[in-house]
Amino acid sequence: MKERIEKLLADVEAFKAEKIEEVEQLRIKILGKKGELNELFASFKEVANDQKKEVGQLLNQLKVKTQERIVELSSSLAQKEEKGDNFLDLSLPISDDNLGSRHPLSIVKNEIIDIFSRIGYSISEGPEIEDDWHNFSALNFPKEHPARDMQDTFFIDKEHALRTHTSSVQVRVMENSTPPIRTISPGRVFRNEAISARAHCIFHQVEGLYIDKNVSFADLKQTLLYFAKEMFGEKTEIRLRPSYFPFTEPSAEVDVSCNICSGKGCNVCKHTGFLEILGCGMVDPNVLENCGIDSKVYTGFAFGMGVERIAMLKYQINDLRMFFENDIRFLNQFKSTI
Ligand code: DAH
Repeated sequence: MKERIEKLLADVEAFKAEKIEEVEQLRIKILGKKGELNELFASFKEVANDQKKEVGQLLNQLKVKTQERIVELSSSLAQKEEKGDNFLDLSLPISDDNLGSRHPLSIVKNEIIDIFSRIGYSISEGPEIEDDWHNFSALNFPKEHPARDMQDTFFIDKEHALRTHTSSVQVRVMENSTPPIRTISPGRVFRNEAISARAHCIFHQVEGLYIDKNVSFADLKQTLLYFAKEMFGEKTEIRLRPSYFPFTEPSAEVDVSCNICSGKGCNVCKHTGFLEILGCGMVDPNVLENCGIDSKVYTGFAFGMGVERIAMLKYQINDLRMFFENDIRFLNQFKSTI
């Protein structure tokens, strides 16, 4: 009897099933009313007394093992059935419609980089926590300039602040290299502004700098015209308005012809036909000297643009906050190869 139970135990252990019916057959064979187990229990009384304990334990083992095996086989068969044709193959590539998309600000930033790298501009970067010298003093900001005010600047301590513009990077580049310099500096900037549809306390800029012998205002104008046409289309015109920045002289603000009404006048351009995109100018000789560049030998121009502003114009987005909310319905609309 012992041998018979042991043989059954081995059979149960090795039992395999392709269909749930086969599992049921195993159950009937062992655990059924007229099954092996009941038959064995019936002949248990014939077992010699000194073997009763051992045989009894074996019988119990057979019962438990069979029950466990049935549960095991049924659940793995049920799982297989459920998956059916949708059987999960983890080695397959993921489906296209679940792919993320590049953020519109990254797309525009990359496009700006691409446009300027085609005319020989390198990329440079600087720290987001900046000292007074690089953010203000070297750029010719007088000590009492309002931009240094607590209202505009996030100060960290007396000497350090979150940079308020990427112009700080041009100082670092000039300090560390000799002309000719042709570089753009994309990056995040910070200002203590109330968040609204038109302003945010964190935004992005791209700074441009070109220093060499005989660089003129005409070179600046031509570079910016090239940029505007590449970014907004061949028919785009630019307009320079005199302005003031401590670090450039002369300074200008640059408008592009409105890409919505083609300059005819609409709500977006407030019927002026033009939209402001950046500030620029000839680098002030004081700034060149502050950064160790001989202003009698070299001249140069600089410009700074807001990436959000360009993206808003390009994609006709009228609320700046959309860029920071990460609403998937907004982000999904932007597809890019850059
Ligand atoms: N830094 C200026 C700002 O944040 C933008 C700017 C204006 C940068 C003129 C320049 C420039 O390099 O020449 O508003």
